[in-house]
Amino acid sequence: MKNVDVSGLRKTYRTRGRSPVTVEAVRGIDVQAESGSIVGILGPNGAGKSTTLRMLATLTRPDAGAGTVAGHDLLADPEGVRSGLGYVGQNGGADETCDTWANLVFAARLGGMSRTEAAGRAADLIETFELGPIARRPVRTLSGGQKRRVCLALGLVRRPAVLLLDEPTTGLDPQNRANLWEHIRMLRDQDTCVLLSTHYLDEADALCDRLMIIDGGAVVAEGAPSILKQSMAADVITLGTQLVGTAGAEITRLARELPGVRSVQPGADGLRVYLDDGERTLAQLIDLTRANGASISTISLDRASLDDVFLAKTGRSLRDAD
Ligand SMILES: Nc1ncnc2c1ncn2[C@@H]1O[C@H](COP(=O)(O)OP(=O)(O)O)[C@@H](O)[C@H]1O
Ligand SMILES: [Mg+2]
Repeated sequence: MKNVDVSGLRKTYRTRGRSPVTVEAVRGIDVQAESGSIVGILGPNGAGKSTTLRMLATLTRPDAGAGTVAGHDLLADPEGVRSGLGYVGQNGGADETCDTWANLVFAARLGGMSRTEAAGRAADLIETFELGPIARRPVRTLSGGQKRRVCLALGLVRRPAVLLLDEPTTGLDPQNRANLWEHIRMLRDQDTCVLLSTHYLDEADALCDRLMIIDGGAVVAEGAPSILKQSMAADVITLGTQLVGTAGAEITRLARELPGVRSVQPGADGLRVYLDDGERTLAQLIDLTRANGASISTISLDRASLDDVFLAKTGRSLRDAD
């Protein structure tokens, strides 16, 4: 079942003041997500991830776009959307002065549960997210990883069919990230529709069933991480060399004719070659480069990554964007 089915989302911000600026934060994005899946929105800072999630959460009104979230019309029935939704913003939503127990009970009471129901729900979530030993400490005294688990639990108090997570693991160390990933996978396996944003390539790759890669407020590529990578090639060889004049053009042309080569991108500091079997073709590539009088300063052979997809679509690397 499609739990998020929205098309044509747009949002333009206009700042006021002496020199007003117009920012087209989201320029026509379609979002579809099914129950029991994790859909990722991957993009650099300023790509429009938070704005997209905030529009789906009814926190920001879209300039254009239509569809349903958790079975309710996004524009006509925002109350209905909110009733089926959990949203955890970039900075979380816990009251830092209260403890975890109080935060969870308060959220459950706000959601319309009785005192007894609220206490039961809080106890369940504390157990699920392994928050027992720290449940009575003010949230402000918790570590980054513990706080994120509290915020995730808060987003789930009302058993939402759709969970929106804005950069859930930013700033966490690898161990805490892996722990949070496990919890997010568990929610997916219990049939929740999880839609999350991230600027981490490895997170998008490891966690998401389907990805939307966005840049400048628009989708540049979409699909399962493995399919997106395969669409580039199996391997990528990067040769550090100076490609000058006719020799440079000849190296590029000959590289394109090597077996299994899918694309060759010449740049200021060398050549990127996307191909099916890097190990087999590497020697030929080195030979033809040298034969045309170019010296090679560096060589690398890697599996094609999501960054290569981003690079091919935008001309920039997501790694540089951090
Ligand atoms: N309230 C706002 N007023 C003006 N510009 C905004 C506002 N919120 C976001 N923007 C701009 O919209 C663009 C997209 O922002 P955002 O959705 O936060 O991106 P991301 O979450 O991918 O980093 C950025 O250029 C940002 O500066
Ligand atoms: Mg953001």
